[in-house]
Amino acid sequence: MPPEGPPHLIDSPDLGEIIVDAEALQARVAELGAQITRDYADRAPLLIGVLKGAMMFMTDLARHIALPLEIDFMAVSSYGNATRTSGVVRIVKDLDIDLTGRDVIIVEDIVDSGLTLSYLRRTLAARGAASLEVCALLVREGLQKTDDELRYVGFRIPPKFVIGYGLDFAEKYRNLPYVCTFEGEA
Ligand code: IMP
Ligand code: MG
Repeated sequence: MPPEGPPHLIDSPDLGEIIVDAEALQARVAELGAQITRDYADRAPLLIGVLKGAMMFMTDLARHIALPLEIDFMAVSSYGNATRTSGVVRIVKDLDIDLTGRDVIIVEDIVDSGLTLSYLRRTLAARGAASLEVCALLVREGLQKTDDELRYVGFRIPPKFVIGYGLDFAEKYRNLPYVCTFEGEA
């Protein structure tokens, strides 16, 4: 943390450089909400938040979309307690709402390898949605093959493990109101 920078919410050597501060996050989330409001005018999109990482982003984003939207959540597991992908994605909590004919927007915290997202896309596409788009708060530069599947992106970030604003390391630090690097032992 730079000496002149804002203090961290939590006093821990695990917390490093602030990658996206709270103000920038809120401003960008408002922009994304306005864009979705325009793109889905006269429709009622179904936002699907991918738990738990997308929780903060989802609740902030939804409040900037001026449409009669609906919200559902899904939980998949791909990481366990490590900072590297296990390569295994499975559904831990499935949706409550039927996707038939719905305009679905998958809300993700971060796209890293893209593995989680391509699994979700494949799975949800088979359920009869009218449309299926993705809104990712963060995209880590350089690792995923294609970007064309990402309709809405908040920020592109350097290839470092980050925490905060929903993102965790071993379930901790989701409550930071900004995104910073994780400097602890993985
Ligand atoms: P992917 O399948 O490799 O794209 O990984 C996506 C998921 O891994 C995200 O939804 C996060 O839950 C988790 N993840 C990836 N990178 C990070 C990170 O830097 N911090 C915290 N979680 C991460
Ligand atoms: Mg996630």
